Amino acid sequence: MSSLEDQSRRHVPQHVAIIMDGNGRWAKARGLSRLEGHKQGVKRLRDVIRWARDAGVQQVSLYAFSTENWKRPKVEVTGLMTLMATMLPLEVPKMMEEGARLLTLGDTSKLPWLARKALQRALDATKNNTSIDVILCLNYGGQQEIVGGVKKFCASFSTEKEKEEALAKLSPETFYSYLGREGIYPVDLLIRTGGEKRISNFHLWDAAYAELYFSDTNWPAYTEDDLKAALDDYAGRERRFGQTSEQIQGIVDE
Ligand code: FPP
Repeated sequence: MSSLEDQSRRHVPQHVAIIMDGNGRWAKARGLSRLEGHKQGVKRLRDVIRWARDAGVQQVSLYAFSTENWKRPKVEVTGLMTLMATMLPLEVPKMMEEGARLLTLGDTSKLPWLARKALQRALDATKNNTSIDVILCLNYGGQQEIVGGVKKFCASFSTEKEKEEALAKLSPETFYSYLGREGIYPVDLLIRTGGEKRISNFHLWDAAYAELYFSDTNWPAYTEDDLKAALDDYAGRERRFGQTSEQIQGIVDE
């Protein structure tokens, strides 16, 4: 297998977002508990961050817990939160070694105290690292993120005149700043593992132009070759953002 480092000299996505699906099915197929599947999923996470960094990816965001995941059986929700509280402190030395900075997206204020504490410690410890950003999406939902943006926008004016001015200036570009994603690049490549072909409320705003890639591999079994296949596929795509191929290639001016 050729090194993923080759990727850094090619067309590498700045921000790769991953829906880490298939932990439960992976575990079931082995007679293990769903939680064991999630534990293996965390281990895979560690490898994928290293492979992505070596490939030249600058940000990886991971759908670790969605706003809808609260609806899972209580034992699984508690298990996932406990996993976060226990695994995160163990991941910090590794993240320091690899120069990974932790960031979050989503309403983390609703997480149990122990998970929040572990998270805050990891955020503080890694804040000056610069090799790769690892964005944990926790209690995150794309629709909720957009509604949050609408609320912030509405709170930004108090008089009828200010409202009219704000509305006149409102565009997708200006609205983006209300989403609270400062320092986070738009998603270039969105990968979903586990065979399903859905976005499941992940990065809805960015999904407008993100390249989508679906892998049949369950997350705990995801390999460097799987990531390489996704990055190779991305490198071969032409991102047109509504323009024509000729415009993108500079064959015509307008
Ligand atoms: C989807 O698989 C996976 C999740 C809902 C959770 C993913 C979380 C982790 C890998 C752990 C994150 C923890 C830390 C410490 C960051 P699924 O359970 O839906 O799988 P299935 O579709 O096969 O049932």
